[in-house]
Amino acid sequence: MSETLPEVRNLTGETPPEVRNPTDEAPPEVRNPTDEAPPEVRNLTGETLPEVRNLTGETPPEVRNPTDEAPPEVRNLTCETAPEVRNPTCETAPEVRNPTGETLLEVRNPTGETLLEVRNLTVNLKLDNGPDVAAVERVSFTLRRGETLGVVGESGCGKTLTASAIIGLLPHTGYVAGGEILFEGEDLTKKSPRQMRELRGRKISMIFQDPMSSLNPVYRIETQMREALRAHGKVSVKEARELSAGMLRKVGIPLPETRLREYPYQLSGGQRQRVMIAMSLLSKPSLLIADEPTSSLDVTIQAQILELLRTLQREMNAACILITHDMGVVTENADKILVMYAGRVAEYGPAGEIFSRPMHPYTQRLLGSIPRLDVDSDYLTTIEGAAPSLDRMPTGCRFCPRCPLRCGTCHEQEPPAFRVGEHVVFCRRAASGGDA
Ligand SMILES: Nc1ncnc2c1ncn2[C@@H]1O[C@H](COP(=O)(O)OP(=O)(O)OP(=O)(O)O)[C@@H](O)[C@H]1O
Ligand code: SF4
Ligand SMILES: [Mg+2]
Repeated sequence: MSETLPEVRNLTGETPPEVRNPTDEAPPEVRNPTDEAPPEVRNLTGETLPEVRNLTGETPPEVRNPTDEAPPEVRNLTCETAPEVRNPTCETAPEVRNPTGETLLEVRNPTGETLLEVRNLTVNLKLDNGPDVAAVERVSFTLRRGETLGVVGESGCGKTLTASAIIGLLPHTGYVAGGEILFEGEDLTKKSPRQMRELRGRKISMIFQDPMSSLNPVYRIETQMREALRAHGKVSVKEARELSAGMLRKVGIPLPETRLREYPYQLSGGQRQRVMIAMSLLSKPSLLIADEPTSSLDVTIQAQILELLRTLQREMNAACILITHDMGVVTENADKILVMYAGRVAEYGPAGEIFSRPMHPYTQRLLGSIPRLDVDSDYLTTIEGAAPSLDRMPTGCRFCPRCPLRCGTCHEQEPPAFRVGEHVVFCRRAASGGDA
């Protein structure tokens, strides 16, 4: 599976034709292994999504379309057997096709030039005892100039490793084992360490979670900012001071000339984070990676920093990868969302669609876990269990052990990718049009 997955086309809005099983075999029977009634799945507008019926073992589940609209055309990207999907009127369903030649993970956006295209990126880690393991597996997404991609998922799902691979700063035990990272059309996985050093800071910058671990405690802010500038071109002390003070002013630090003479410990946490942002923007990068840029800050400062990032990004028309475990943060800031689980993509697509119509059970639960003023609910959703560790990855769908909707084949076969609407979801039951 090292090839880019083909694009699965969006829907025409016409009543879809019958979904055919490409092998013409009987579709897999879907059972609820526990025989318990599956939980009701709510969508974000508070409306109840159609009930996924519990099965007796005989009849495959009928999947209802609550609005009576034509369900989206769903094509199977991997040539695997697709579950039968019926619309309520049992009209002809769309043929399941394996289209070729087009990129699957292109979220259609009519404007903006593609800046970054990550294709089937796999990052392996060497373990002390045992074979190398894939901590990031076949991750794909695209990013256009000026766009923000929110990368979300629980701790350990591979968000930072994905970003580190892009910027060429993997830990010494990690290496890119497959895939491509096309930045302005060039594959970064083929660049030498020296070439990557030149790109870093100049065209790609990263803001790390903890500014104290990125700022050197024994140097004044001015020295550190000057070094960041000099790494990418000759600049005099006077010029560097003016540029640095200007950038500190831009990120909202009062009395920038004074701050430049200070050491990191003399600044507050919020100010240090602003200094980090200023440093990362000095070279006007076209791609900014912000890895949990606000998680160490209180909520008020968090909102200010994110607003600041948005404004600066807009001014520079930079693309941004915003990594967070906080769905609330991406709700406010992202154009597209990549939901990761256990090193793989669970769901990917335009933010609006993912919020209004999450398809993957994991995304649904992540979204259900954030408080919403517009939803009348006494409880927040929790996700039972924990994400698997690297050396104990489940077979088939990695979310299977925690998924209340799992069916017979989920633990055996990797879920194929389906395009539903404008987004892509890796869940075999999402093919039912959202009632996963
Ligand atoms: N240097 C390393 N050595 C060994 N294992 C690592 C290293 N860095 C990451 N890992 C492992 O790789 C997996 C992915 O880690 P990663 O840091 O990308 O997760 P993350 O999604 O960024 O999590 P968090 O939200 O906690 O930052 C985890 O299981 C983690 O333990
Ligand atoms: S493919 Fe995975 S996420 Fe989808 S129903 Fe099966 S176990 Fe759940
Ligand atoms: Mg991380």
